[in-house]
Amino acid sequence: MPKPHLLTMSGSLRKGSYNRMLLAEAVRAFGDADVTEGDLDLPLYNGDVEAQGIPDKVQRLMDQVKSADALLIASPEYNKGITGVLKNALDWLSRANPSVLKDHKAVILSAAGGRTGGETAHFMTHSILTQLQVNVVHGPLILVATAQDFFDEDGHLTNDFLSKQVADRMGRLRDLI
Ligand SMILES: Cc1cc2nc3c(=O)[nH]c(=O)nc-3n(C[C@H](O)[C@H](O)[C@H](O)COP(=O)(O)O)c2cc1C
Repeated sequence: MPKPHLLTMSGSLRKGSYNRMLLAEAVRAFGDADVTEGDLDLPLYNGDVEAQGIPDKVQRLMDQVKSADALLIASPEYNKGITGVLKNALDWLSRANPSVLKDHKAVILSAAGGRTGGETAHFMTHSILTQLQVNVVHGPLILVATAQDFFDEDGHLTNDFLSKQVADRMGRLRDLI
């Protein structure tokens, strides 16, 4: 049987992003898989640009989503909302016809500097994915609050409760694929 193919998508583009660390933890917890890191550094959605043809980077992401068995989406929240980076990527992806997102499985995670761990953005992301008919793997929200306190210098989670939450969700995802 071929290895499951996971596509990771981070709502933060910066190299040292805690959300990218969280995605790496989720991938490790999932176990044997082919993993592609989605590049969300896309041009802003613009209907005039779309009318000229889907930009190459957007098409690449659409193709990666299409061929993945599951999406792992991790994002901080910015000003109590979803980051522009993630929203823009989902807006572009929603334009694929036929849909590349419908019936896909996805896990949402979030790490943020604040005390709620990006809960508001997490709910927003869930709501958008529901609208796009993505099957979110449910469970207690995985929220890494004050993220700067919960990763070691190698990018590993230092909190057993959070590590177990991630491991449990990835185990469920593996069972569903
Ligand atoms: C523009 C901006 C807005 C932010 N708003 C929030 C917020 O509403 N809630 C929160 O918990 N953290 C907020 N933060 C802090 C981020 O959660 C923190 O910088 C986090 O580490 C970013 O994720 P990353 O490490 O994956 O880049 C904000 C940061 C920026 C740059």
